[in-house]
Amino acid sequence: MATPASVLPVEQFISEVDALLVRARAAFDSAHTNEDLESARIEFLGAKNGLLKGVQKQLGLLAVANKPAGGQNLNRAKAGIQAAFDEAQNRLAGDSGRGKRDPQFDPTLPGTPVRLGRLHPITQTIEELSDIMGRLGFTPAHGPEIEDEFHNFQALNIPEIHPARDPLDNFYLQVAGRQASGPRVLLRSQTSTVQIRVMENTPPPIRIISLGRVYRPDTADTTHYPMFHQMEGLLVDRHVSMAHLKTVLQLFASSYLGKSVPVRIRPSFFPFTEPSVEADYFWNDKWVEFGGAGMVDPSVFSAVGYDPEQWSGFAFGLGVERLCMIRHGITDIRDLFTNDVRFLRQF
Ligand code: DAH
Repeated sequence: MATPASVLPVEQFISEVDALLVRARAAFDSAHTNEDLESARIEFLGAKNGLLKGVQKQLGLLAVANKPAGGQNLNRAKAGIQAAFDEAQNRLAGDSGRGKRDPQFDPTLPGTPVRLGRLHPITQTIEELSDIMGRLGFTPAHGPEIEDEFHNFQALNIPEIHPARDPLDNFYLQVAGRQASGPRVLLRSQTSTVQIRVMENTPPPIRIISLGRVYRPDTADTTHYPMFHQMEGLLVDRHVSMAHLKTVLQLFASSYLGKSVPVRIRPSFFPFTEPSVEADYFWNDKWVEFGGAGMVDPSVFSAVGYDPEQWSGFAFGLGVERLCMIRHGITDIRDLFTNDVRFLRQF
């Protein structure tokens, strides 16, 4: 039986243990060098005269009934002190060399591959088209995707009663506060709008392309999607002819496809060009249509204040998705917008 004199009150023991933990943590946390850390280690964790050892010895002074509680507290403090030491050691090792941090680290194991992101195939195509046309002297121009009827239709010589204005063929937008009879706005259905915006603000000569999104309420299938991209081109100068147009289309197609390809033009109709043509190139043993084109209609020049007697020009509009799909052998336009990384990673 222990004599009463040798009994240490358990509360006192616990508060000493707690105080030791607080001091040890402070000492390890404030160690700036390995030497600081080592002397703190000896002070608190030293096998012979460490303060922890000293407190541990006092466990024997507790009344038998209090020993389990005291022991538990001591173990908790011990673990806390050891953790503070480990943490300080890692911190200092991290400053001087990474390898020391984790003794289990095996530098001979193969690493985890880091996947590089990449540009979407449409973005890549747009950059390439812009590059090719840049070499031909065409500067990029931009316009809004939300357009008014003047720029999307009227200035392009598309009259009020023209079927292209049908609500079933366009995304008209509801705008709060608009009068029922006032001008309507819509998601642009073609990039030809940018021709108008540029000519309104710039005197001739002009040589621009505009690459961007257009919208039409088509049901999505292998070749249609309600949003797609067009490249619009416009060249205005004196004495511009169809021969210039065909040459530019020819140079464009050959640069894009990487080898000289025959180009042909067929008569067609667009309200904003006269004459109008459809352009095809010969690729993989067949003629492939790649867009519409023509000589700018004089009434378009009048709409933007150019004198049609002095200026002439050509314009063309090509589908970006179609160019991208032909090049890469993509057979379903929807694959471009499903964003399945297994598909996108191939480009
Ligand atoms: N805007 C026409 C379309 O979306 C394409 C087009 C045809 C653009 C002839 C032109 C052009 O500039 O001259 O179908």
